[in-house]
Amino acid sequence: MIKASIIGGSGYAGGELARILLSHNQVELAQVTSESHVGEYLYNVHPNLRARTKLQFTTPDQIAPCDVLFIGLPHGEAQKRIETLAQLAPKIVDLSADFRLRDLDTYKKWYEEDHHAPNWVGKFVYGLPELHREEMKTASYISGVGCNATASILALLPLTRANLLDTAKAIIVDIKVGSSEGGNSPSLASHHPERSGSVRSFAPVKHRHAAEVEQELGLENVHLSITSIEMVRGVLATAHCFLKPGTSEKDLWRAYRGAYRDEPFVRIVKDKTGIYRYPEPKILTGSNYADVGFEIDEQIGRAVSLCAIDNLMKGAAGSAVQAMNLMCGFAETQGLEFAGLHPI
Ligand SMILES: NC(=O)c1ccc[n+]([C@@H]2O[C@H](COP(=O)([O-])OP(=O)(O)OC[C@H]3O[C@@H](n4cnc5c(N)ncnc54)[C@H](OP(=O)(O)O)[C@@H]3O)[C@@H](O)[C@H]2O)c1
Repeated sequence: MIKASIIGGSGYAGGELARILLSHNQVELAQVTSESHVGEYLYNVHPNLRARTKLQFTTPDQIAPCDVLFIGLPHGEAQKRIETLAQLAPKIVDLSADFRLRDLDTYKKWYEEDHHAPNWVGKFVYGLPELHREEMKTASYISGVGCNATASILALLPLTRANLLDTAKAIIVDIKVGSSEGGNSPSLASHHPERSGSVRSFAPVKHRHAAEVEQELGLENVHLSITSIEMVRGVLATAHCFLKPGTSEKDLWRAYRGAYRDEPFVRIVKDKTGIYRYPEPKILTGSNYADVGFEIDEQIGRAVSLCAIDNLMKGAAGSAVQAMNLMCGFAETQGLEFAGLHPI
């Protein structure tokens, strides 16, 4: 058994981390912090955890040394505290965007500020096992993944690996997202009469996760457009791209099967019948699967590649636990076997 603690555990991603870790048979969830709920039981904030734990929230400065520390703070907080937090645990998984980008100029361009811990940037491995599994096994510090970036990368990865993309042409990824992506702080945009039923173009251009996608796939021409829709959890990324002349559907099948045949959490979804012929986030609620599918218009060489995930699972807490499993030498799927729900 190892001891794991969570900083920023009253948030949505922190709540999911707690849920998964409480069922993980090689982990003891030692402490969970919150500055606004100190002394309250976890279940006061995460009601699904009632009777699963007697833990109460503590403050970050009450955290005792542990084996793995998860950081679920808003963007910008981990980089300010990393020197102190790193004293507490030999292994850290940070869920924020603080340590995802390797190049400091790129970080400044997208986040419009200098990095507060530039010496730490190179110490973190980008936590997507489908790309960095071997590095993650020996890493001490892993950066969680962007949820929109994860869906975009997994949609496109088979095409870049098999060198099928016409990279002179832009790749446009249209992404539909649920409301939990925005975290648990209420705002006018999340107020029920404003949010319910909306199809709101949230970031038609310049979404920051494009930087992660380009970094991780070695591309320079990726553009994301984000739309908030009527869903609490879930991301559906639909990537529109052009292929090298002569690329056929058979080539795509080979590329997708080659990339994901041995991946425990990526499923290819491309059926000829039924209503779930392509990836659909709804049935992934609570699960760590990423469902990936594609279609090709051979006449004009256009591919449409799709990836659905639960943003709080494969896009955040699930990925973070997958990262911990790799770092600690546990079975990669431990604690993450939940298949999702249907119907839901
Ligand atoms: N939501 C997603 O889909 C998603 C996906 C991928 C990655 N992430 C990343 O994961 C991290 C957590 O996301 P989340 O959705 O769980 O956010 P959240 O629901 O807003 O929770 C953030 C947590 O940090 C604490 N906090 C808030 N403001 C703070 C501040 N200024 N200083 C210190 N602590 C503060 C809050 O707790 P107290 O005030 O109680 O201490 C809360 O527990 C973020 O960096 C986010 O970018 C989120």
